[in-house]
Amino acid sequence: MSEIPSRNLALDLVRVTEAAAMAAARFMGRGDKESGDQAAVDAMRLVLNSIDMEGVVVIGEGEKDEAPMLYNGEVLGAGSPPKLDIAVDPVDGTRLLAHGKTNSLATVALAERGSMLDPGPIVYMYKIAVGPEAKGHINIDASVTENLRSVAAAKGMDLDDLTVVILERPRHEEIIDEIRRVGARIRLITDGDVAGALMTAWPGSGIDMLIGIGGTPEGVLAACALKSMQGEIQGKLYPRNEEEAALAREMGYDLDKVLTINDLVNSDDIFFAVTGITDGELVDGVKYTGEGAHTHSLVMRSMSGTVREIRSSHRWDKLMQYSQIKYDPSPPESDVG
Ligand code: FBP
Repeated sequence: MSEIPSRNLALDLVRVTEAAAMAAARFMGRGDKESGDQAAVDAMRLVLNSIDMEGVVVIGEGEKDEAPMLYNGEVLGAGSPPKLDIAVDPVDGTRLLAHGKTNSLATVALAERGSMLDPGPIVYMYKIAVGPEAKGHINIDASVTENLRSVAAAKGMDLDDLTVVILERPRHEEIIDEIRRVGARIRLITDGDVAGALMTAWPGSGIDMLIGIGGTPEGVLAACALKSMQGEIQGKLYPRNEEEAALAREMGYDLDKVLTINDLVNSDDIFFAVTGITDGELVDGVKYTGEGAHTHSLVMRSMSGTVREIRSSHRWDKLMQYSQIKYDPSPPESDVG
């Protein structure tokens, strides 16, 4: 069956993540994670509101950190159609940005209304993610060792060739010990498991698998991207305490259920964009030039499987004539009025 080409909203979304990244990157290394996040949120909201859609934020941010959120249920866009779910992470890796470390990203995804998992009160999820060659070869209910063996076999690699990315957290001590016993290599990251998940499916990143407990919103965003990148992610909700577990059960969440990529986002037409804030394996960070900035983004659509790499050059002298976002905090004297 053939169809005339339809609008690729991911090309609109790249303007959203570029704006967020350019606004947030000013705060690199300033030790202030809230201000970087706030700048990204404000920029994202403004540009999302210019897109022809009626979007509802399903995956907002801030629950965990009480950050200045794009809150769940917030309606964004210039009006319908289409009616869409929105997932945002204006800064994944707010601490990475605050400390000038690698792999802090601005990300956003869109999919049909009702297709994204609403994580409700469950902040964390246990997750395993892999790229295309290992798709169909992971099982979150199996042991770490079994998963490593299966991924190594699928990729035609030895166990000691594999590199696993994992958040450096005390809760991961046992998993880390098991990976070490099996003999695989580990890349510990201090934050940013959206980048970690995407790296598994990004040629040349050298990362074969992500495992561990991270944010549920980040899991849904990673699922949105991995669908376009032909990768796979599985998850299980991970309540922080008995109260959270009881509340989740009361609200109808099944805490034993294996969440497949389709449970995380049940759509075949997902749009995703990511722009680097700081440098990383996936994308370069924002570079300011005095006259403007350079950004580096990935833009994808699951229906076509097309992943575009976009490098943009932005000029303050043009942009600041009409943009409400203050990308250039110190304009030349003559412009100050
Ligand atoms: P923020 O950017 O919201 O701070 O999230 C960073 C992050 O590292 C995520 O990538 C990850 O999913 C989550 O935090 C892990 O949570 P925690 O830091 O509580 O272990």
